[in-house]
Amino acid sequence: MMKTKRSLLHEYRSLFPILEEKIHLGNCSQSPQSTPVLAAIDEYLSNWRSVGMDWDFWMEGVEQAKASFARLINADPSEVAVAGSVSDAASMIASAFPLGNQRHVVTTVDEFPTVGQVWNAHARRGWLDVDFVSAADRIYTPSVFEPHITSQTGVLSVHHVGYYNGAKQDLNELASLAHEHHALLFVDAYQSMGTCVIDVQKTPIDILVSGNLKYLLGMPGIAFLYVRKEVAERLEPAMTGWFGRQNPFHFDAKNLDYAASAGRFNTGTPPVLAAFAARGGMDLIFDVGLERIERRIDELSAYAVQGVQARGLDLASPEDITLKGANTAIRVSNAHDVEVFLMEKSIIASARGDVIRLAPHFFSTEAELDRALDAICERNGQHRAH
Ligand SMILES: Cc1ncc(COP(=O)(O)O)c(C=O)c1O
Repeated sequence: MMKTKRSLLHEYRSLFPILEEKIHLGNCSQSPQSTPVLAAIDEYLSNWRSVGMDWDFWMEGVEQAKASFARLINADPSEVAVAGSVSDAASMIASAFPLGNQRHVVTTVDEFPTVGQVWNAHARRGWLDVDFVSAADRIYTPSVFEPHITSQTGVLSVHHVGYYNGAKQDLNELASLAHEHHALLFVDAYQSMGTCVIDVQKTPIDILVSGNLKYLLGMPGIAFLYVRKEVAERLEPAMTGWFGRQNPFHFDAKNLDYAASAGRFNTGTPPVLAAFAARGGMDLIFDVGLERIERRIDELSAYAVQGVQARGLDLASPEDITLKGANTAIRVSNAHDVEVFLMEKSIIASARGDVIRLAPHFFSTEAELDRALDAICERNGQHRAH
């Protein structure tokens, strides 16, 4: 075990220059910049500088990023479309409603708010109906959803790992539930991609969305949408564009057609710069290896939970690490002030509502978690003294 930890630390930490100065536990929000990602961005910038206009090179970069995302989840690249954000990707799917006679969506109150906003906006237009379900412990088992699913339910929309406290859902169970009811499983995997293995051949997710700036080590401006081939070809999104057509370069403005497979979910000119960064980040993830990352994150996750409990802090995440992702959330008074206090100590953590989130990645150390937890205790002590 020690060997694994050492190899991860020594081999990869130097690729993230900021780690020399800061403790970066904000990976649930934005991961640190790495030299391979910077080099990938520079490929685009120097081509733009020297060649001027090189669509073929840009499109190749976007295709490579798409292929890397497909490889991450064991899908075919033709099953992946490019979006600007998870919000865009979710809107594309909602804009394909109703699905035949199925116009009902079941989702949770613990989705990232943008997903709820998208379902609600399309409900207001009369394209679908949506039910929001809640689970006291934020763990969504089939029995929580079952009473809400009807023969009209077209989509069960669930996050994999919750943005608030890192609660991790069992996607195999949820895929079975959705399919028993002839519904599709839509997964927002933004908080888990890059931290654990997701294999859409083994776990029959129908639709999966994620962006790249969190654990996938990229930057804002791009997200990917996976749609299983058989599903994609049943869907006709109203949110569309020339890159979603059979041949974008036919320049036929009068007719509507859709590309095969998930290609139909592409919209306009793709986010080329962010695609280069995304590919650089995903290549680094492949280089380290997702199984290794998952093991290391589980070790750090267990360490963080024990550290919270040993210090008498208020754990908002599940105690059982099999039920949680990388993020360990701690309830504090005035989470935003805690984030600022930590930042003053060169510790990057992320506040959401009443919690401060410590989100390590494969390059993080136990000592860094200790420093962050001690600083939270110090802030708590000061707060009580006032
Ligand atoms: C689970 C999850 N989904 C979606 C988002 C937001 O996605 P976007 O800004 O790409 O629409 C976030 C951002 O924190 C998130 O954590």
